[in-house]
Amino acid sequence: MIKPAKALENLPPYVFVHLLEFKAQAKALGRDIIDLGMGNPDLPTDPAIVEALAQAARDPATHRYPLGKGTPQFLSAVTGFYQRRFGVGIDPVSEALALIGSKEGLAHAFFALANPGDTVIVPTPAYPAHINAPYISRTKPHWAVLSQKNNFLVDFGKIPTAVLKKTKLMVLNYPNNPTGAVVTDRNYLKEALKLASRHGFLLIYDNAYSEITFDGYQAPSILEFPGAKNCAVEFNSFSKTYSMAGWRVGYVVGNAKAVGYLAKFKSFLDYGVPAFIQLAAAQAMRRGGEGEIARIYQNRRDVFLQAARDLAQWEIPKVQGSMYLWTKIPSWYKKKKSLDFVKDLVLKTGVCVSPGTGFGSAGEGYVRISLVETEDRLREAARRVGSLIERKPRIPAAAS
Ligand SMILES: Cc1ncc(COP(=O)(O)O)c(C=O)c1O
Repeated sequence: MIKPAKALENLPPYVFVHLLEFKAQAKALGRDIIDLGMGNPDLPTDPAIVEALAQAARDPATHRYPLGKGTPQFLSAVTGFYQRRFGVGIDPVSEALALIGSKEGLAHAFFALANPGDTVIVPTPAYPAHINAPYISRTKPHWAVLSQKNNFLVDFGKIPTAVLKKTKLMVLNYPNNPTGAVVTDRNYLKEALKLASRHGFLLIYDNAYSEITFDGYQAPSILEFPGAKNCAVEFNSFSKTYSMAGWRVGYVVGNAKAVGYLAKFKSFLDYGVPAFIQLAAAQAMRRGGEGEIARIYQNRRDVFLQAARDLAQWEIPKVQGSMYLWTKIPSWYKKKKSLDFVKDLVLKTGVCVSPGTGFGSAGEGYVRISLVETEDRLREAARRVGSLIERKPRIPAAAS
């Protein structure tokens, strides 16, 4: 009898599996699907980067195992970016590591830097890879609830000292998936670093949306703060910044020991990011122009917020970062569960959004809308949401 490992059995169901099922049923009913479920960028990678990939792949040297922490070109592009964007100096040899997408590195960090049974602090709601990492690594999660009234920031004062004392890792992610929250008060990050330093744990800062910010807001790096490299690492990604989600390339920078242990762990699992991908990714970073993609998401945000208000009586909070809108299900919707709303919406209208519970139990009552369709399709999605509003039948005026 073949059985999965306990760690796999205990995993909560992956939200996107439900969505696949609902979408298949909706398609069978002939619905046109507008998919705002997964945060899978629809914008193509810049053709110049695709060209750089083609050129790099013509060099047979890139066909060998890449080995090491990353190619020199890749690591120097990353360190150049951190200098230019955040004013942070990174040692390319000891403080940076290429990843097969930041998801891979984030999940493996829990194996490389904590033991089964160790306490880890993870926010909820959160990106599913953060929620699931404790399950697969058999570490012990302390869930830090992100609430709207606290602007979706972790309330550090609510974490018991006894928990902090035994914590090995704490995850923070801003601009945040799924809530779109950003850090506007730098003291918040200073406080997180102070806790990590005082209690001797590693702060894992996920900055995957550092370049997807709106209305002039600029996201900080955790490494901008004095002493951060003593107790923090930062994960970042090419997926959203350069619309390169399918290329599977990201990186981690910061604390040299943590970076080194993760590199050691990975050396037993993989051979690194293919060299031609690293070379093309380095080109993407050198070209810059990070803000161009953010502007497209910002316009989409504005279009959907307006259309949801006008066409679906749905008031959705404005976000300053990420590519998501995070909102309570419409007040006119009679049932209370996120999954009921999502299922009804996709089966009746073809519009697919993610149920809040896919990001942890604290997401009940919410949905996440990914801005991964054109402005016209987003307007149409809002119109279709509005079509679910039950209109009272008109009573004809009595004849006098
Ligand atoms: C917060 C967050 N971190 C990391 C990732 C993963 O990015 P990558 O494609 O680099 O694995 C995502 C992807 O959606 C994300 O939302």
